[in-house]
Amino acid sequence: MADEYMPLPIAELGAGDLAEFDIYMRRGDRYILYRKMSTPITSDNIGALKKNHVSDLWVAPEDLEKYQQFINKKLEKVVDDETISIEEKCEKTLDLSSTIAKWIFDQDFSSDVLNATENIMQSVVKLMFQDRRAAHQLALQSRLFHEFHTHAIHVCVFGLALTHRLLGENKEKLIREIGPGFFFHDIGMLSLPREILERRGRLTQEEMQRIRNHPKIGAEILSNLNLSTDAMKIVLQHHERGDGSGYPFGLREKQISVYARICSLAETFDALNTQQSYRVRHPTFDSLKIIKKEFLDHVGWDLFENFATLFYSPKPNAVIKVG
Ligand SMILES: [Fe+2]
Ligand SMILES: [Fe+2]
Repeated sequence: MADEYMPLPIAELGAGDLAEFDIYMRRGDRYILYRKMSTPITSDNIGALKKNHVSDLWVAPEDLEKYQQFINKKLEKVVDDETISIEEKCEKTLDLSSTIAKWIFDQDFSSDVLNATENIMQSVVKLMFQDRRAAHQLALQSRLFHEFHTHAIHVCVFGLALTHRLLGENKEKLIREIGPGFFFHDIGMLSLPREILERRGRLTQEEMQRIRNHPKIGAEILSNLNLSTDAMKIVLQHHERGDGSGYPFGLREKQISVYARICSLAETFDALNTQQSYRVRHPTFDSLKIIKKEFLDHVGWDLFENFATLFYSPKPNAVIKVG
């Protein structure tokens, strides 16, 4: 369990929210009680915080479980909220999912983690089935800065949208069998020192080898979570390439799972389209052009075309291919 205070973004608070935990403000290194548990938050409170440019409140480490339930419930409600627009739903879903993802990657890997992950999948998939504009909106609103937990969410959103469009998989399969593979695809990276991951200069042979091993390490980390075979293939094969030049096994063509291929497209796009500490982001259209030039042989036209159309607004009567 994390032993630090957790941020509670103001953007995620609504008037009438009743938290079952104390909420703190941060002043320098100190945390000062702001709201006692079960004291409702009013719109005036939120207005005053925003006026004072406070972007986060804080929750003590001993209340993490309650905090987690609070965020989970909010995420569940957003999708069914008929008072907000699809744009707002997508924005809130991305915000809340990112907060949950950040928590997940701070934990030891137990079944709690899987429940929290499933909650993210449920919301994203439900939104996509509820409104045909959702996949497009979620893709457009993905964040501009590359962080481990937002990368996991982006790959999930792109991957689930593509799997649904291209293969027409049903909700249950997307949520339980495929989604967790996208979400955890890079979990093996967490075992590598940050210094290696952010190095601008050349890596030694040994460091390179460690990076090329992250799919296998990821599969080991996840081995006691009982993920589906398809999800494990995503984790193990997302760096394989059709011509055999990928890693860790050098698989070819049909040896590579279609879901892993979807993941490699989604994650390469996200790496290009987000700003990293060592380089600026490529705009969306440029990222798609690079993928088309360098990846088309690996992913195929059908997959690429379906992916590219995520970024263009669907026509009112357009038929979305799901079979
Ligand atoms: Fe990876
Ligand atoms: Fe990745």
